[in-house]
Amino acid sequence: QMGGRGAGAPENSPLQIFVKAKKKINDIFVEIEDYVKDAVNYMHEIEKEQQILDEKSVRQAEEFVQKVHGIKDVLARDHMKVAFFGRTSNGKSSVINAMLRDKILPSGIGHTTNCFLQVEGSPSDEAYLVLEGSDQHCSVESVASLAHALCKEKLKESEMVRVYWPRNRCLLLRDDVVFVDSPGVDVTPNLDEWIDKHCLDADVFVLVANAESTLMVTEKNFFHKVSTKLSKPNIFILNNRWDASASEPEFLDQVRKQHQERAVDFLVKELKVCTPDEARERIFFISAKEALLARLAEQGQSPTATLAEGFQSRYFEFQDFERKFEECISKSAVKTKFEQHSQRGKYIASELRDVLDRLYLDAQHLRDDKLLQRKELHDKVNYTEQQLMVITQEMKQKIHHMVEDVEQRVSKALSE
Ligand code: GTP
Ligand code: MG
Repeated sequence: QMGGRGAGAPENSPLQIFVKAKKKINDIFVEIEDYVKDAVNYMHEIEKEQQILDEKSVRQAEEFVQKVHGIKDVLARDHMKVAFFGRTSNGKSSVINAMLRDKILPSGIGHTTNCFLQVEGSPSDEAYLVLEGSDQHCSVESVASLAHALCKEKLKESEMVRVYWPRNRCLLLRDDVVFVDSPGVDVTPNLDEWIDKHCLDADVFVLVANAESTLMVTEKNFFHKVSTKLSKPNIFILNNRWDASASEPEFLDQVRKQHQERAVDFLVKELKVCTPDEARERIFFISAKEALLARLAEQGQSPTATLAEGFQSRYFEFQDFERKFEECISKSAVKTKFEQHSQRGKYIASELRDVLDRLYLDAQHLRDDKLLQRKELHDKVNYTEQQLMVITQEMKQKIHHMVEDVEQRVSKALSE
């Protein structure tokens, strides 16, 4: 495969950071669940025969079972989310298709994407879509039928259609990356609604800019709004349509430098989301159209296209973007999603330990009490014995005295 890392080497993918962390944390929660269930069973058992357990501790431990179960549910649904924004026709849908290695999303000239589209791995390996507010599966066989299905519906631009696509057709989907495609930021007055509805849980944002022009105010405004609601969002800037530069090679370096400087300034000085060094790892000059064509050709799905001058370096840069993107999204998702889970897991484990510690202490007190009771009894017996001894001793002496007294009197009486 000429596509660098092909479908054959998933272990090298930086996405594995997330995949492995997810598996590990899930295993830990399986253990915590066992541990909590064991503790609850144990408590139920001693609850029957002893009086040491207070109702509250038992209920508390039972709640932990529910909580752990809830976390495991959320964990199973955790994914890495990337959202694409930019002006109409800059190539947002094309970039996603190139990353998915297939024409999945409708793309074309004019205003094409007219609502939010979320692409994620299908649980059943069948392709289907689900409209917002519905749970009906509409099956889709191809882009044509997807586009048709989307046109049929009167959709509001901020509405979300979920596209479920077979996981085995794309590593990114298999490894739990979810893509969000959006209409052009220039076609909506409702940027705030977009952000609140679709952006707050995104791990990475990709601004798809048009290298033939420059960053637009509407695009910048959108990201200014995003960064007021999220602290330091991860933003990549793709200068797409860079193949157009092939026709003006004499200005290529100059134009690239200009775009680069403006994009770095935007990320570093305006949004203040990263350092200049970091920004340089976030800005790429690519051609989504070429990358998709090359991939379709690799897979034998289209004849090898005649590509413009400089294709190889643009394609290389596209792959470089994918790698940096994968690294960024998996690290960010592990941190934001799993950090919370592991903190809650630790909290539950320590709370449960406190409950068990209390239980142990209570049991110990009970034992000590019983021992003490026994000891008191023992002491009582001792006391009685002692008393008895003292009494008998006294009696003996009294008798002795008495006897002596009698003897004396008798001998005295005899001598008289
Ligand atoms: P909307 O959904 O309408 O907001 O547009 P979009 O940003 O999703 O753009 P889309 O992917 O639909 O692409 C618009 C047109 O630009 C399509 O005809 C693409 O084939 C073309 N296109 C996309 N990327 C490139 C590129 O890198 N180079 C060239 N030359 N054309 C491109
Ligand atoms: Mg589109």
